[in-house]
Amino acid sequence: MKTLKILILLITINLTAQQGGMWIPSQLEGAREKEMKSLGSNLSAAAIYAIDKPSIKDAIVHFNGGCTAEVISKKGLLLTNHHCGYGAIQSHSTTEHDYLEDGFWAYKQKQELENKGMFVTFIKRIDDVTVQILTGASENNSDKENQDIISQNIKTAIKNVKKEAWQDANVKAFYKGNQYFLFVTEKYKDIRLVGAPPSSIGKFGADTDNWMWPRHSGDFSLFRIYADKNNRPAEYSKDNKPYKPVHYLPVSVDGVAEEDFTLVYGFPGRTNEYLPSVALNQIVYKLNPVKIDIRDKALKIVDKHMRSDNEIKIKYASKFASIANYWKKWIGENQGIEKSKAIQKKQELENAFAEKVKGSTNESLLNDFNKLYKEVEEASLAREIWIETVYRNVELLNATFRMYQLELSAAKGKEAFNKQKESTLKRYKGFYKNYSAKVDQEVFETLVSNYFKVNPKKYTPKEILNTNVSELTKEIYNNSSFISYDAISKLLEGDMKTVLEKINTDKAYQFGKELAASFYNVINADFNAIQPKIAVVQKKYMKALMDHFPEERFFPDANSTLRVTYGQVKGYEPKDAVYYRPVSNLKGIIEKYVPGDYEFDVSEKLLDLYKSKDFGDYAKDGKMPVNFLGTNHTTGGNSGSPVIDKNGNLIGLNFDRVWEGTMSDYNYDPEICRNIMVDVRYILFIIDKYAGTKRLIKEMDLVHGKK
Ligand code: ARG
Ligand code: GLU
Repeated sequence: MKTLKILILLITINLTAQQGGMWIPSQLEGAREKEMKSLGSNLSAAAIYAIDKPSIKDAIVHFNGGCTAEVISKKGLLLTNHHCGYGAIQSHSTTEHDYLEDGFWAYKQKQELENKGMFVTFIKRIDDVTVQILTGASENNSDKENQDIISQNIKTAIKNVKKEAWQDANVKAFYKGNQYFLFVTEKYKDIRLVGAPPSSIGKFGADTDNWMWPRHSGDFSLFRIYADKNNRPAEYSKDNKPYKPVHYLPVSVDGVAEEDFTLVYGFPGRTNEYLPSVALNQIVYKLNPVKIDIRDKALKIVDKHMRSDNEIKIKYASKFASIANYWKKWIGENQGIEKSKAIQKKQELENAFAEKVKGSTNESLLNDFNKLYKEVEEASLAREIWIETVYRNVELLNATFRMYQLELSAAKGKEAFNKQKESTLKRYKGFYKNYSAKVDQEVFETLVSNYFKVNPKKYTPKEILNTNVSELTKEIYNNSSFISYDAISKLLEGDMKTVLEKINTDKAYQFGKELAASFYNVINADFNAIQPKIAVVQKKYMKALMDHFPEERFFPDANSTLRVTYGQVKGYEPKDAVYYRPVSNLKGIIEKYVPGDYEFDVSEKLLDLYKSKDFGDYAKDGKMPVNFLGTNHTTGGNSGSPVIDKNGNLIGLNFDRVWEGTMSDYNYDPEICRNIMVDVRYILFIIDKYAGTKRLIKEMDLVHGKK
């Protein structure tokens, strides 16, 4: 009996060993540390996060507020994804030197390129401030009173924290507001571009391969942090020096094998693992389908034009990629949720929960959820339809929305108006550079017709209810000033009064203004009235779950703060009888090669290196590894996160997840959720053999032989 019990215990430990979670770096001691060791790690909690001595956390930065990057040399060299550096690489490109197409390499430090507005943020310290922040909040207050008390406590905590003059602080809520942490941060603002492979390497496979395995992408780029003479943050100056880090990651050239321990350190953006079944049901069956359908319609039109017209292809490449990215993700997410029976599993948990809270004050929580989500459903739906139609896909309507914001600024007086006019014009300038009225006209007609079909009537302004869409389309794209930069900048000439009069005679603006006003005054107003009520129930539900199921594994949802996630290198079974191995090789790039194709072309140089097998020290048994899979629980924002081995060395670079597992934002399933990483040896091979930028290899700490 006793051995059986131990056996069962061992099996459960083994099963729970991989169940995901994005953990707070200052909270790893104990259970997390133990679990990591059981997966093969040699790292202590203090090696990963410490404040009294250097630790791995000192090599990790939030890159430009969205992605993650890591310091990989004593001279502040930064590694992140190609798709994270994309905007910067694009901004330095012209028709004469197209760095997106050809790549960019600074062979000397002097050639590294300034990036205006770019910044990276280090986390110096993480403090649990829960008690301080929740002081004064209580069940006896109204929700509004509690919110005010908490906001005030947060302000006070930030004001009183001990930090250096050049540091910042912020407070974030965890576990749905049941816990609060304070972060002391350091923001560096002189970040220069050091290197990027051509898109045929950095974005190999583009949208066809995006969110998919097997994958063969060299999705990396290199930057460098510069600091003032005291090694502190400073605005760009040619006198600034490469930053000397507290810690940087040594780079292992030993490679990975199935079951190796992996740790991913970074800034995951947003997950929602503790939604009630009613909310997940709404996402899967109500919200995702309309979002997917709107993007589907727009992408089909844009794709058709991109394929037949090279100029349109260039103008729309980046926009297409970003719309296609989440379109594809949502499709995978819905399929994954159905296949893993995530909604049913939540219902089972809720049934068990209902049993436990019978007769207590928490008895009403599930009903509260049901009521509130039903109440918010139409507003949520209208909101998503508005965002996808007006804001994201019909470009002309997005331009009218900016104009509406300009008109609103008139209420603050002439000066504010003129300032906003300047910035609006600047935006328009960039916007119309990549605009095709021909493409947009088709998208307008299709998506506006769709809007009248699917938008809840209650949220469609009655002033436009009887629109004849095909007539309106013709009229707008023949006569409106919103179809070119020249026309719209003329429309904005004159003083405030003149401009306001002129814009209001434009047919596109008249239509867009109704839509914009309905968003602010009706849709969002309704939506925002219900959200705080949902948040209050969600906070209580989270707490009750943790109280009643103490043996369960609860990790805080992602909220763009620094997290540690860990797992092992592992393949998966996407469907019956099919098994995906976890490592891809350069050979696979050659298999996918389609000469001249804009997703699967391969450069001469890479073909030559492949033929001559000139892989340097970076290959194993004549094979050049490219990407690999792991069980690390990641999400958007983990792009560019380092993959660290059991000894603290860099072995890879996170950049994506597999399609069947994109549901991990709502339901992490260890069977099928995998993150996708670039093997660091492929990165070294490209820097060294492909680009010949030896000076960068020399400044890194390459480690051979398992320590
Ligand atoms: N799916 C990756 C991540 O969000 C990569 C996106 C960039 N690549 C692309 N082909 N759009 O999310
Ligand atoms: N590509 C994503 C990003 O930009 C990371 C992949 C994911 O969502 O897991 O952050």
